[in-house]
Amino acid sequence: MTFKINNICCIGAGYVGGPTMAVIANSCPNIQVNVVDIDPVRIDKWNSKDLSKLPVFEKGLKEIIKECRGKNLHFSNDINNHISNADMIFISVNTPIKSTGFGAGQASDLKWVESSARQISKYAKGKTIVVEKSTLPVKTASLIRQILEIDNTNEQNKEFHVLSNPEFLAEGTAINDLQNPDRVLIGGSDKDAIKALVDIYSKWVPSAKILTTDLWSSELSKLIANAFLAQRISSINSISALCELTGADIKDVSRAIGMDKRIGQFFLNSGPGFGGSCFKKDILNLVYICNHYGLKEVSQYWEKVIEINDWQKKRISKIFVDKLFGTISGKKIAIFGFSFKANTNDTRESPSISICKDLLEEGARIFIYDPQVSVKQIEVELNILESDQKESHYSKDFWSFANSTYEAAENADAILILTEWDEFKYLDFEKLSKIMRKPSWIFDTRSIINIQDAKSFGINVWNLGKGN
Ligand code: NAD
Ligand code: UGA
Repeated sequence: MTFKINNICCIGAGYVGGPTMAVIANSCPNIQVNVVDIDPVRIDKWNSKDLSKLPVFEKGLKEIIKECRGKNLHFSNDINNHISNADMIFISVNTPIKSTGFGAGQASDLKWVESSARQISKYAKGKTIVVEKSTLPVKTASLIRQILEIDNTNEQNKEFHVLSNPEFLAEGTAINDLQNPDRVLIGGSDKDAIKALVDIYSKWVPSAKILTTDLWSSELSKLIANAFLAQRISSINSISALCELTGADIKDVSRAIGMDKRIGQFFLNSGPGFGGSCFKKDILNLVYICNHYGLKEVSQYWEKVIEINDWQKKRISKIFVDKLFGTISGKKIAIFGFSFKANTNDTRESPSISICKDLLEEGARIFIYDPQVSVKQIEVELNILESDQKESHYSKDFWSFANSTYEAAENADAILILTEWDEFKYLDFEKLSKIMRKPSWIFDTRSIINIQDAKSFGINVWNLGKGN
């Protein structure tokens, strides 16, 4: 049986749902795409006239929204209605790690996936293809199938086909990743349902890049792709410490090993550890699944990737305090960058959070500058308290939001670069040397500044992974 897709609904208007549907709408003008969410504030932001207020900051996104919104791309809270009208429904909701109960700290919390499936079961009409876009534990498709059948009585004659179509976009490059993907992965068992989704992607992705598999290989491949990427970062970060002690330079080591085609040059930048909403949660989920299947050694292997990541962040905080004469109590510290990587406003699991917390615990006064992250977002991430609890290091008296690098650095003892934003690559060291307290320090955890230039103005530099 063939499927004709005229109407798509995407449940979840987040970092994945929003940009992915924007690209589908842009490439498939004949398909109506409705992105729905339970969060009315998020939907309002997607609908805001001022395109700088979109909830997701991604290069190229504004332009697509401007072109498609109101034509074949719509953002709405009317979830049930759009489910009813859809031929194909993407589930793109959050799948964080459970914080309490069985599997807490490792297993995926599938309650948002379940509630989406229940709503689909209730409101969908006729034949519907349900696509897992969220990252899910292997075998989730069988759960979704069971839930979809809950409201399916004989009289209603509903028919569901479940596909897995994990997303591989990275934040900061989402639109380019979606428009020019390395591959599109589609897992399923029904050939016609698979073809319907292949046909959509074929509008802009070469067929050689569209890979079709069974459901379980597709679900599992997403977790494994993230685990392998994160593993590279922990590997190079572990070696950054060895470089510092031996006099080697991690940048040279990365370049030297990356020129071997079998290793490859990408994802070898050492830094303050991986952040983002997915690497940690997906590896924890992998660890949980391996334990579930009795593969203790495999789970322990992957657990180490996270351990090294946590260790790298602590290591940086410790070196920072040591270099500033062993105490940073009362000292002013400028933090450059709060997002988990450049070119995104996302702060989830950003290394900046735990490093800033370490510095606050040591009694420092931190002044944070990030070109895209809001004051409110920083307050939420750092659990900043209202001023009636002034003695706490997490009160507003201990931190401030700066509007520029130079405002943050005024009278500071040290600058700590945590995100590789372009504007941190070209700092005016002469100006900084004049406005900072002496001895002034720059700690570059992303290896982006010109060390000699900074040193020529009397600024001390510590560069991650660079031995003396
Ligand atoms: P997100 O938190 O930004 O967005 C999820 C959205 O789903 C939220 O706006 C939430 O309100 C909404 N939602 C939850 N339950 C709902 C329901 N029942 N009905 C309607 N809306 C509901 O999350 P995200 O970053 O877009 O990630 C979504 C999924 O994609 C996750 O599984 C994640 O692992 C995966 N993923 C994320 C990225 C990324 O770069 N962020 C990349 C690839 C895959
Ligand atoms: C990552 C993957 O790259 C995507 O393919 C995947 O779809 C996504 O997770 C997901 O499933 O959520 P993302 O987290 O957005 O994307 O960003 P990355 O570019 O992978 O960076 C993750 C973290 O690793 C950042 O903190 C970044 O600074 C760090 N990183 C990355 C390094 O420290 N060194 C590197 O060489 C690369």
